[in-house]
Amino acid sequence: MQEHYTAPDWALGLSYVPSTYIKLAQRPTPITSWNLPGLPNGYQVSIKRDDMTGCTLTGNKACKLEFLLADAVKQNCDCVVTCGGLQSNFCRTVAVACTQVGLECHLLLRCHGDKDPSLVQCNGNLLLDRLMGANIILVTPTTYEGRQTETGYVPGLKDKIEVHAAKLRSVGKNPYLIPLGGSNTVGLWGHIETFREMLDQGVAEQFDDLVIATGSGGTGIGLAVANYLTGSKLRIHAVIIKDLTTEQAYKLVDNELIQAGLAGVKGKDVMDIIDGYVGGGYSVFTDQDIEQLITISTSTGIILDHTYTMKAVKGLLGELHSNPARFKGKRILYMHTGGVFGLYDQRIDGIIQQHPLTNKITTSYTDT
Ligand SMILES: Cc1ncc(COP(=O)(O)O)c(C=O)c1O
Repeated sequence: MQEHYTAPDWALGLSYVPSTYIKLAQRPTPITSWNLPGLPNGYQVSIKRDDMTGCTLTGNKACKLEFLLADAVKQNCDCVVTCGGLQSNFCRTVAVACTQVGLECHLLLRCHGDKDPSLVQCNGNLLLDRLMGANIILVTPTTYEGRQTETGYVPGLKDKIEVHAAKLRSVGKNPYLIPLGGSNTVGLWGHIETFREMLDQGVAEQFDDLVIATGSGGTGIGLAVANYLTGSKLRIHAVIIKDLTTEQAYKLVDNELIQAGLAGVKGKDVMDIIDGYVGGGYSVFTDQDIEQLITISTSTGIILDHTYTMKAVKGLLGELHSNPARFKGKRILYMHTGGVFGLYDQRIDGIIQQHPLTNKITTSYTDT
């Protein structure tokens, strides 16, 4: 299952260079023009369809897992432990990829209500996690990193992953631990490869700017590192979709750059972080957001998700209108990073059932 991997010459100086990968994603994904409603005059937008990396493996995370799971197999691990939200796209991708590769999957999922397993539904990404037979460990909301408070240390998800891994070790298993979103020096390679594919598709000549959604940061950082190392002159814009300030986001990028072996490079030099579009918080949306999502889906055939890709599009349109100078040119490439299964979490059903564009249902004439 593992295949030999030859890294591009321009990336050989990074701190970690993989020698194997496991093919998971359907590649190359297409780039097509996109008649995005609300685009100011004079701009052209195309879309890189990384939502087409696979059916159940849809999205940007499949690429990271090609390297992460190859590393797990190389280290003779028999199971994987990671974490995320209850509807995490990343965790779903891990569950699917692990099952395909033959690794046991353990997901620590944050639940907001009761930690009662019988209340966990079968919707959206969760349905797929369950169909993959993933072991789901419910955890109450917490940050990823643990933190010191006046009353003592509050463990984060990172600590909880360690605790779970220790339990697995105590019963003779050899777990492979994946950090939030698969964003580390191994997962980075998924997007080094994505960028290599994009160069083959001519993006450096055809576009000025690349826009993506950023969460744990790995996707944007991988693309920005590759853009920097190849000397391509795309400007990379990462729209924050979770509760992070711009400064915190740049700090995260700076740390990842150090880990990757690029200590002399600063986040601000390689990417433009766009703040102000997370709205009420991570995965919180308004009726207007869903209105926009419906306008886009019904007029262009592209389905965005309410948690990541829709907010990144809002950031793209918002900044093109209010701050066009932050873009290098007028030829924009938007990367669709997937997330469609999140839409099946039932939160938008009420709007879909009321909206004139999505509720065009009548009874059949032939029955009467
Ligand atoms: C659909 C989608 N887009 C974008 C992202 C952000 O990717 P990253 O965590 O690598 O920043 C995620 C992360 O989970 C995602 O699920």
